Formats: sequence, structure tokens, C-alpha cells
Amino acid sequence: MATSHKLIIGNAVNMQEIPDASVHLMVTSPPYFNAPFDYKQLYDSYEQYLQVIEEVAKEVYRVLQNGRIVALNIDDMLVNGEKFPIVADATRLFLDAGFRYRDRIIWKKPDGYLRISRRSGVLLQNPYPMYFYPDNTLESILIFQKGKFNYRSIPEDVRLASKIDLDRFQREKWYMTLWEMVNVLPGSELEKDIAAFPEELPFRIITLFSYVGETVLDPFVGSGTTMKVARALGRNSIGIEIKESLVPIIRKKVGFDGQLTLGQQEDTLEIILREKTKER
Ligand SMILES: C[S@@+](CC[C@H](N)C(=O)[O-])C[C@H]1O[C@@H](n2cnc3c(N)ncnc32)[C@H](O)[C@@H]1O
Repeated sequence: MATSHKLIIGNAVNMQEIPDASVHLMVTSPPYFNAPFDYKQLYDSYEQYLQVIEEVAKEVYRVLQNGRIVALNIDDMLVNGEKFPIVADATRLFLDAGFRYRDRIIWKKPDGYLRISRRSGVLLQNPYPMYFYPDNTLESILIFQKGKFNYRSIPEDVRLASKIDLDRFQREKWYMTLWEMVNVLPGSELEKDIAAFPEELPFRIITLFSYVGETVLDPFVGSGTTMKVARALGRNSIGIEIKESLVPIIRKKVGFDGQLTLGQQEDTLEIILREKTKER
């Protein structure tokens, strides 16, 4: 079945192009406040950052169908020696927007992953009490739900077409609250300078929380990972991204930059460039 994809270039605090209750799943990874390396000084203050998360949460609540899921990949962030409790604050903001808190999955990266800094090195230099700062190899995937899902609302053929591969589910231990997934390696061509998540993350979320033919939203779409995976899984997608310069990268990643492969020729990509305002 053909899928359709929409890329909106603009600020996700406003989702004016998306009608109420028209989205079946949201999966995203917003900026982690002013993360060193990726988003140095993106926001003037932590309060301003939380305001963006609050407005996005309200808009997502509006566009999501009843019963459906939000998966928010996020983590607390150390900026200039101060740790910001982003997971706790974002949880509160999504609860305040009307969602129910359903689960928290921990994503564990391989032990060798240390992109930002080897903080534990401080203790190696000073092997005495009070010098301990652990290296962080974990992130959260917060799962929220809008009301209760009506399992009977899905036609039988759609249910069958969306059946989950139980071998993979068991083998890769999707059933646990700890997901071991390899991060995107620094220097990967399409994700250069974008804090992208690995395809495995939206793959699991889209497989577990949406049906074939439904629509998946990523309001901080970055390089377009969610859109790519949605397409591969026979779902429609909507991506929002504030940086217009990412359009060619997203186009390429989602597979709309050249010859379409057989069976995907009917798929469409619409790009909406909002009026240039001070948001870009
Ligand atoms: C952590 S990255 C997402 C990476 C994405 N998951 C991927 O795999 O490529 C966050 C993205 O959100 C974008 N962004 C930041 N603030 C935004 C806003 N208010 N509205 C829309 N996009 C925003 C950034 O430019 C960045 O590309």
C-alpha cells in the first residue's frame, strides 16, 4: 500500500497544518536543552526550553487520536557543571497536557559509547572520595497515552498486517524496560551534526504502537529517521523541523532523492515551507 509523507519546515510549538485527532503515534527526540556539542546556547534559559516542551505537548495532545501513544526519547543534561532534570520536568509537562504516564524504558548504549566526555576520568586523576562523576550511557524513552485505546476499532485485516514478529521480540528482549541499542556512530554521513537516534528506536516504537497505514508524527524530525522507518513499515508520516538546511538530508534519508524502488513508486513526499518568520 502506498504511503504519504509530509515534512513541515517550521517551529513545532505550532502544528497548524495538522488537524485535530489525525495522528496515531508520536515518536521524537527533542533537543536536550543546551546540550554541549549539539545545542550549545540554543535557548536563553531552561525556562524558555521548558516552555517549548510544554507547547509541543499541548499541540501533540490536540493532534493525537484518543487512546494513542507518545514516545519521548529524552535525558537529563549536564550543562556547565549543572545537571538539568529534563526527564522529570518533561514528564510533568506531558501529564499537565492531559496524558497518562504509561511507562519508562531505559535505552542503554554499548559500554564503549562515550560521545560527550569520559567524566569518570576525574576520579582516575584523583583517586579519592568526592571526585566521582559517572559516565552516562543511558537515556530515557518516556511513554504517555491519551486516554484509553479501543482495540476493537482496528479492522481484522489491518490487525493481521501489523502482527509483531515474536521471534525478534523475544530474541532482542523488547519485553523489558531496558533496551540495549547501538547509538548512531559519530561521523555517520547523513547524521553529521545532528543528534540522531538509531533506526532501531523508532522501529520498535512504531512496530509496537501503530498499525499499518496509520500516521506517525515526529515534531523534531532532525535527519528524518522516524519518517524513513515509518515508510519502511508501511506507515504514513509527518515530520516537523525548524532547520530548513536539513531538507536535502531528510529527502535522501527517507528515500525521495532519486529513483524510487519498485513497490514504493506510489509513495509521496510533500514539503511545506512556512513563511519565513523569526522562528527560522
Ligand atoms: C535531537 S534532534 C532529532 C534527531 C532525530 N531523531 C534524528 O534521528 O535525526 C532535534 C531536532 O529538533 C530540531 N528542533 C529544535 N527545536 C525545534 C522546534 N522548536 N521545532 C522544530 N524542530 C526543532 C533541531 O533542529 C534538531 O534537528
